[in-house]
Amino acid sequence: MGKTLIKNGHIWSAHDDFIGDILVDGDKIAAVGKDLDKVYSADETIDASGMYVFPGGVDVHTHMELPFMGTSSADDFETGTLAGLHGGTTSIVDFAIQTQGNSLSDCINHWHEKAGNKAVGDYAFHCAVTDFNEKTAKEIPGIIEGGITSFKTFMAYKGALMIDDKMMLGLIKDVRKHGGLVTVHAENGDIVDSMVEHYKKEGTLDPKYHALAHPPEAEAEAAARVMDLAHYHDAPIYLVHTSCRQSLDRMKQNFMREQRIFIETCTQYLLLDDSVYDQPNFEGAKYVMSPPIRKKDDQTALWHSLQCGHIHTVATDHCPFNFCGQKDMGKDDFSKIPNGAAGIEHRLELIFSEGVKKGKITMNRFVEVMCSQPASIFGLHNKGTLGLGKDADIVILDPNKKHSISAKTHHHNVDSSIYEGWELTGRVNTVLARGKVVVRDEKADQVEKGQGQFQKRNKFNFSL
Ligand code: URP
Ligand code: ZN
Ligand code: ZN
Repeated sequence: MGKTLIKNGHIWSAHDDFIGDILVDGDKIAAVGKDLDKVYSADETIDASGMYVFPGGVDVHTHMELPFMGTSSADDFETGTLAGLHGGTTSIVDFAIQTQGNSLSDCINHWHEKAGNKAVGDYAFHCAVTDFNEKTAKEIPGIIEGGITSFKTFMAYKGALMIDDKMMLGLIKDVRKHGGLVTVHAENGDIVDSMVEHYKKEGTLDPKYHALAHPPEAEAEAAARVMDLAHYHDAPIYLVHTSCRQSLDRMKQNFMREQRIFIETCTQYLLLDDSVYDQPNFEGAKYVMSPPIRKKDDQTALWHSLQCGHIHTVATDHCPFNFCGQKDMGKDDFSKIPNGAAGIEHRLELIFSEGVKKGKITMNRFVEVMCSQPASIFGLHNKGTLGLGKDADIVILDPNKKHSISAKTHHHNVDSSIYEGWELTGRVNTVLARGKVVVRDEKADQVEKGQGQFQKRNKFNFSL
């Protein structure tokens, strides 16, 4: 790979911005400054005049080819990471989920097999622990040393993925001891289960009852509980897909006792409200996910927390299921609708358009929560920044280009979009992944199956 010069772009980091140039040498950033063409020669020059230039997006919450609820999420590592590249996301952290009864290394090996010769974007794994016992505990230090430094837990999905508080405490303690970070799907599985039973008894089985069976109290209670468990062991804790005001209130209280809590929300919780479940003809099933889409008031709280720094990352929880053939497994019973939706391709463009363009967050904050902070929290030491010597993952975005989202044109391998018809301002034009142009003029360019690389991550930085 030769040298590429990106000229005259409006370069943004989490803290500053200027009009200037970036020199890429091979797969790394070699120089950042002004008038670099006077000092360096390059094999290719990309004119970025009028464009925004920022680090490749890092989506730390995806589920590619996840076996779940009797089916499998529709994007594999190739289609999912390719959709990501189109939207400027150059790295993901996917969940390698342990099957109860099997070892953690089995699940990690299995995820390596799924991703290894398919991913076109770089990837790392969280190790999701669904069965914590003496045997699995022994695996933790080796997994962390091997560069998988975060562990996922579920407080819901009873009988499948959920672990109890005793397992949670043991895991938090061991992971902290060996320098890792525990991440949590916080929903009280018992509340959810009893609500599901209730609605089934009543014969109220439409998709909207999925939302009613997952109330904010279930999320806030579990979030508060796991923060206490982590506090007890003086361990950091990362809460995934935070969706509601009640959870945020509990989290803010715990910041005051100086606890290290990291909060993720997802694009859909910032942008959609629960009126989506009123759509006729089973359309509400497209939005069945856990936690569910909340009320407008929750959106307001999420945006405010994003602005003021209480929310650290925006991810997608990308977990697509086809409307025909997958979501319709729950046509007569909402509890059988596979939970999840697609989002990786449009995360950056949606938050840019709805957040930056509409004045809800600054462009620096955008770079921080979409690129830099996800990378630094999860030890992706070469990602999320345009610093010298870092991986040349670079997005060139046209800040004024208008376009709309449709399942007819998206690159997700799924037949519908929860953002169908959304009109956006700001479009990803060109993307470099480790120095190689992979998207040019909005189209994939010479992308090779399997070109994505597994990223070994650093241990958790306790000074964060
Ligand atoms: O509905 C969701 N979120 N599906 C994916 C699995 C999870 O809970 O993250
Ligand atoms: Zn979850
Ligand atoms: Zn998830």
